[in-house]
Amino acid sequence: MSGVRTDPPRNGEVAAGTADGGVETSRHDAPSRPLHHPADGPPPRSGEDLRGDFPGLTPGWHYLDTAATAQKPQAVIDACTRAMGRDYATVHRGVYARSADMTLAYEAARRRIAAFIGGCEEQCVFVRGATEAINLVAYSHPRKGRVLLSLLEHHSNIVPWQLAGWEIDVCPLTADGRIDLDAAERMLTPDHSMVALAHVSNVLGSPLDVPRAAELAHRVSAELLIDGCQAVPRLPVDVAALGCDYYVFSGHKLYGPTGIGVLWSDKLDALPPWQGGGSMIDRVTFERTTYAPAPTRFEAGTPAIVEALGLAAAADYVAGIGVAAIHAHECALVARLREQLARRNSIALFGPDDSAGIVSFAMAGVHPHDIGTILDESGVAIRAGHHCAQPLMEHLGVPATARASFGLYSNDDDVAALIDGLARVERIFG
Ligand SMILES: Cc1ncc(COP(=O)(O)O)c(C=O)c1O
Repeated sequence: MSGVRTDPPRNGEVAAGTADGGVETSRHDAPSRPLHHPADGPPPRSGEDLRGDFPGLTPGWHYLDTAATAQKPQAVIDACTRAMGRDYATVHRGVYARSADMTLAYEAARRRIAAFIGGCEEQCVFVRGATEAINLVAYSHPRKGRVLLSLLEHHSNIVPWQLAGWEIDVCPLTADGRIDLDAAERMLTPDHSMVALAHVSNVLGSPLDVPRAAELAHRVSAELLIDGCQAVPRLPVDVAALGCDYYVFSGHKLYGPTGIGVLWSDKLDALPPWQGGGSMIDRVTFERTTYAPAPTRFEAGTPAIVEALGLAAAADYVAGIGVAAIHAHECALVARLREQLARRNSIALFGPDDSAGIVSFAMAGVHPHDIGTILDESGVAIRAGHHCAQPLMEHLGVPATARASFGLYSNDDDVAALIDGLARVERIFG
């Protein structure tokens, strides 16, 4: 890890506990100053310090599948254990003190997550994950019509639009694997009511110029939904500055638990309820039901209480390191890995050089599943497959790719182990 920084406080931001038990503000935008400054407090922690926070990172195991799901720091595990044990009770219903306390904690978690992405609490709906968030918008949007997607989208940002009956247009990619916003500009018409794009590709790592995408969408009165699954753990995200209308992500990729994610929008009031049930109502009769205001209107049933508190602990932990520092660290690892892969004649690299934390590649004459299996024998865990992006695979002309993805705990040893493992694959197939 190149540096661990205490980020500057943000206007009106709530303070939250850090992994160390201290108090930390949660602003994580990149400041225009060195990553660590003496005024920031304790000196940076090293990569090995951070690895010690993750019990899942067992010695000798090189985890390079963080884009699929991140390992969990002890602080998140502890927060979930407390919420499931000593503090456990339902929320929003009980008249007893434990339930009232849990309700406060659940709503504090919402505030924490909202602050983490630069939004307000009433704009953040807790959902099961990005998949559920996109389904929610696709099904309940009042202007169902044409949506512009891109060739690199995850199936989660394709299939919900199909199922909900939208007409789909597909924006092509540039030669280096970015969403081609010049093409998007030519394609967008007033018929489009939605543009839905990945902030960072889960296969290529390509980052999107979100403010420009927002400007293009709004020019034709369309709205912009951003799939932030791969961006939130590795890029500073400020939804207000991005200018999008919806931002979605999954907690388990942000070092938090599975089963929890976030739909952020400043347009929630315009969305009718999606799923019906307890909690999301104002008053129910057999003749007519009225609904709670957003975000509660979108949280039918008993929510994922433990997971919400775990996600807030994850946001604290990540903010305590600084997303800008994580981004710089992952960029350095990507550069080293790409440079070493590029030297091998057998390897074809996909995606742009400024890929955020993710490197996809293929090896001539070897199926990615074989690469993954042989690497596993050397204790290197990568992902091999279509990565839930079959249209992109078709575009790349491959059935699958091998993908290494980094997290805040990744280090040079992981890169070296991967390169050694690939040399072994070459020997076996060579
Ligand atoms: C870019 C992107 N979008 C959406 C998803 C779906 O996330 P989840 O399965 O957590 O809902 C993923 C997960 O891999 C992803 O990488």
